[in-house]
Amino acid sequence: MADVPEPAAEEGVALVRVRAAGINFMDCLVRKGQYPQPPELPAVLGVEVAGEVDGRRVMGLPRHDGGGYAEVAAVDEDWLVPLPEGASFAEGASFLMTFLTAYVPLTRQLRVEPGSTVLVHAGSGGVGSAAIQLARHFGARVVATASSEEKQTFARELGAEEAYAYEDFAEHVRADLVIDPVGGELVHQSLKVLNPLGTLLALGYAGGMWPHVDPALIVGRNVGLVGFYLGRLMRLRPDVVRAAIGELVALWDEGAIRPVVGAEFPLAEAPAAHRLIEERKHVGKVVLVP
Ligand SMILES: NC(=O)c1ccc[n+]([C@@H]2O[C@H](COP(=O)([O-])OP(=O)(O)OC[C@H]3O[C@@H](n4cnc5c(N)ncnc54)[C@H](OP(=O)(O)O)[C@@H]3O)[C@@H](O)[C@H]2O)c1
Repeated sequence: MADVPEPAAEEGVALVRVRAAGINFMDCLVRKGQYPQPPELPAVLGVEVAGEVDGRRVMGLPRHDGGGYAEVAAVDEDWLVPLPEGASFAEGASFLMTFLTAYVPLTRQLRVEPGSTVLVHAGSGGVGSAAIQLARHFGARVVATASSEEKQTFARELGAEEAYAYEDFAEHVRADLVIDPVGGELVHQSLKVLNPLGTLLALGYAGGMWPHVDPALIVGRNVGLVGFYLGRLMRLRPDVVRAAIGELVALWDEGAIRPVVGAEFPLAEAPAAHRLIEERKHVGKVVLVP
């Protein structure tokens, strides 16, 4: 941890007194030099925060190059929203990235009908725990995967009807939609468990880089492969993302969804917090508290 100057005040940019900073898996990739769009160095990690601006309790998304793991973070006013009444700062810092990543594709790119079966990989993680809640909210029957019994239990508690280890799901599950933050060899296994007219949503590669997929597999099975990347959508279709934020906050206000804070660490213990995630020992979101 080091002292650096506070971000400069600018028109349209709020300086947020950070009370909690959410950790995203991408932060670990950026730190290890494995993220395809790295920030310019030196950089302060952290793409989501909750805190205070002039007495207002807010949550927000700092610029794409980060800045959240700090006492003060610069956030464009456009990407700053009030923290719902009764929500903690840690919850506020755990909400936007994960829920947007599940909600925008579920509402804009995919069809989830009541009774559809949605398989959520890494169901106990940040994006996974949001995806389970949202798919349930849209009336789907949810099945999850996770690497340990404890995480599978956690996914069931969040609303998954069944939860399996990665080694087992292919035997038990047929799905209309697969939400996949894991990538790697799960991609081909997931395509194989899709029902006709089903879709695989690729979100990330926490478990290994994506393989090449032969279009013949997609065509022959009558299935689809869809990708979603929030960072680029925020730049190119901010209207879509902002509308989704409004809809998600309303769902939180009415109690339909809620971010899950799995662990909180002081800012100085960011290395331990990253380790927890990289060793796959966390559930929900891990948050840093300055
Ligand atoms: N496309 C987008 O716009 C977007 C936005 C946000 C996040 N993401 C991506 O979505 C994924 C999840 O992000 P997150 O921040 O919510 O993280 P997270 O889910 O809290 O943590 C990563 C998850 O990946 C699973 N995992 C599988 N193989 C792993 C491995 N080899 N090493 C570490 N973890 C592994 C872990 O669950 P198990 O132990 O149960 O396997 C863990 O739950 C990441 O790939 C991230 O980059 C994409």
